Amino acid sequence: MQKLIVEGGKRLRGEIRLQGSKNSSLPIIAAALLSRGECVLRNCPELSDVYAASRILNCLGTKCSFSENTAVIDSSSLNGSEIPEELMREMRSSIIFMGAMLGRTGECTVSVPGGCELGPRPIDMHLAAIRKMGVDVRDSGGRIVCRALNGRAKGAKLSLAFPSVGATENVILCAVTAEGETVINNAAREPEICDLCGFLRKCGADISGDGESRIIINGKQQLHGCEYTIMPDRIAGATYLSMAAAAGGEIILTNACVQEMEPFLTVLEQTGCSIYTNSDRIYLRCGARLKAPPDRIRTMPHPGFPTDAQAVLMSALTLAEGTSVFEENIFDCRYRHADALVKMGADIQVMGKIAVVRGVQRLHGASAEATDLRGGAAMLCAALAAEGVSEISRIYHIDRGYEKIEEAVAGLGGKAVRSG
Ligand code: EPU
Repeated sequence: MQKLIVEGGKRLRGEIRLQGSKNSSLPIIAAALLSRGECVLRNCPELSDVYAASRILNCLGTKCSFSENTAVIDSSSLNGSEIPEELMREMRSSIIFMGAMLGRTGECTVSVPGGCELGPRPIDMHLAAIRKMGVDVRDSGGRIVCRALNGRAKGAKLSLAFPSVGATENVILCAVTAEGETVINNAAREPEICDLCGFLRKCGADISGDGESRIIINGKQQLHGCEYTIMPDRIAGATYLSMAAAAGGEIILTNACVQEMEPFLTVLEQTGCSIYTNSDRIYLRCGARLKAPPDRIRTMPHPGFPTDAQAVLMSALTLAEGTSVFEENIFDCRYRHADALVKMGADIQVMGKIAVVRGVQRLHGASAEATDLRGGAAMLCAALAAEGVSEISRIYHIDRGYEKIEEAVAGLGGKAVRSG
């Protein structure tokens, strides 16, 4: 199993071009199933989760190739509607293929993606919504068999109990080719939802209101192919900025989505880092010891503070002057990185959804196992700031979301070597 050997204690300095967004590419790759022509996706990150999505496409008879961050998908040869359980299990977000398959063929067989490192991940909202769209959903020996009555889903007025990103995506994917109008109230407003809608509009879909709580979709008979550039990854951006905030230094992010990163940048600025933004560039300088932000950092749906950036910011704040308080409101088990940070010398107390981080003067190298994608990235941030050498194992978690992370770190003057 591969590890990262990290030599910490070096200030970071350099420029890094942000990868394309993982959480946009996955639903957009699923959405390519809806088009009967060729889709060319630029700025597509080459990640293990993206490859898992392309294996699902292949098993449905769709052609998908990758070269230099461009994915070419041709689903004219689609010939299946059943996703095997082992492919569903590879990645929790495989569930978004449900909406896309229903939109394209009016049927699909998938399985419950199950819990994951972040706690239970139910799909009740996804299923309730597609049922309202005239889809019969049955459990058959642990498999979920979905069939639209008369072969085509029907538009419906829906209200989500919580602005779930995945449920919003599934409804959009099912609705763009459904019969009539679909209205989603309390829709997720994440930038990745807008990116998915941007792609679908380029394929001929009629969608308005994305980025707001109410999305309106008028179903079309058919969608066509297009060329589309995937948005930059705001969480990878938050991760690299957190590395520099933790280790100190001066870095520039290029190809960044400045506006979409605002909720994160606002909190980071409160820690005393100097941040300057200019179109698609973010410059960060961290010269002195960080300060704990004055207010509790509450993770919330967009435009609140993103849950995906909680762990990496926490690793930087372990070294801040004062006490930082986090409140995790999206997932039940999203503090699993805290033990590894404590092993490196951090002072963190977790009580349910609250984590209290008392800033320490220094961290020291340690061996740690990545617990999940963002938790693993947080360990890397802490290891780069720590004195001495750290070893991070189970880095397949990190590879799910960060493209060649050791090269990105090297570009910032840090040292993280992949071994094994
Ligand atoms: N939930 C339900 N029932 C449902 C759907 C969701 O109870 O039917 C709950 C979840 O269990 C969770 C909360 O609602 O507690 C939020 O879940 P949501 O559906 O919004 O999240 P998701 O679609 O499963 C996406 C991202 C996550 C990100 C969340 C929140 C992708 C592939 N994943 O997950 O990204 O944390 O939205 O912004 O887009 C990551 O990149 O590390 C990651 C976990």
